[in-house]
Amino acid sequence: MGDGPAQAVSTANPDAPQASALQTLLREATKEVHGRIDSHPLLSVVARGKPAQEAYSRALRVLDWIWRDWQPILEQDQRRWLGDDGALLSPRTAWLAQDLAALAIPPLDIAPQPPAPARDAAEAAGRLYVAEGATLGGWRLYQRLAPALGLNSHSGARYFHGHGEATQRHWRRVWEILEASPARRQPQQAADAARTLFADLERRLDLAAARLR
Ligand code: HEM
Repeated sequence: MGDGPAQAVSTANPDAPQASALQTLLREATKEVHGRIDSHPLLSVVARGKPAQEAYSRALRVLDWIWRDWQPILEQDQRRWLGDDGALLSPRTAWLAQDLAALAIPPLDIAPQPPAPARDAAEAAGRLYVAEGATLGGWRLYQRLAPALGLNSHSGARYFHGHGEATQRHWRRVWEILEASPARRQPQQAADAARTLFADLERRLDLAAARLR
């Protein structure tokens, strides 16, 4: 997983339509940082083998803190720049709250550090790519994690389950929006915004890891 999603698990799907230029650019621009996220100690424990319940709980706690900061701003970005009513952005804070409640995990107490809002549609599009791309990896992980930990989407694995069997359909819908957005004409700005959001994620994982030491 350390080399990014393309090498973590084969992502080649023979039925998938050929990637667009924007898709290829976003994927390439974030491949390296995604690889580092996959192998971050807080997340790699859930990505490999059979995680201990404690490591799984810690990952959920940190993800909950991150998404509570991200979600309202990303929703605002979608409404303002992409004409979306917010429905496209997966309800991750609700999913994580459900998991924390099911497993009696206390939320992480780190002061909120919301990211600045997107400055234009290309930035909003790059961020949407990052946020919703996470549902792809999440669903893959769920298929291994859920049986290994004896969980399901009602008993503590709602976040990783995400859209479940509908994940690919959701991802296609996200791409319809991305391809219809100005990101198509400003792909570099979208790619920079995607990389910046990933960098924020990495910084938060390091911060949380230091707090939980
Ligand atoms: C919150 C953290 C994460 C974010 C924001 C994120 C983001 C993304 C994005 C943007 C994509 C789409 C790549 C593409 O263009 O096809 C993706 C795919 C993927 N991610 Fe992550 N990811 C995260 C955590 C993880 C972790 C911990 C793993 C574990 C190994 C992982 C594994 C994968 C895999 C396997 C795919 C490809 C899935 C497929 O094509 O079906 N991701 N992720």
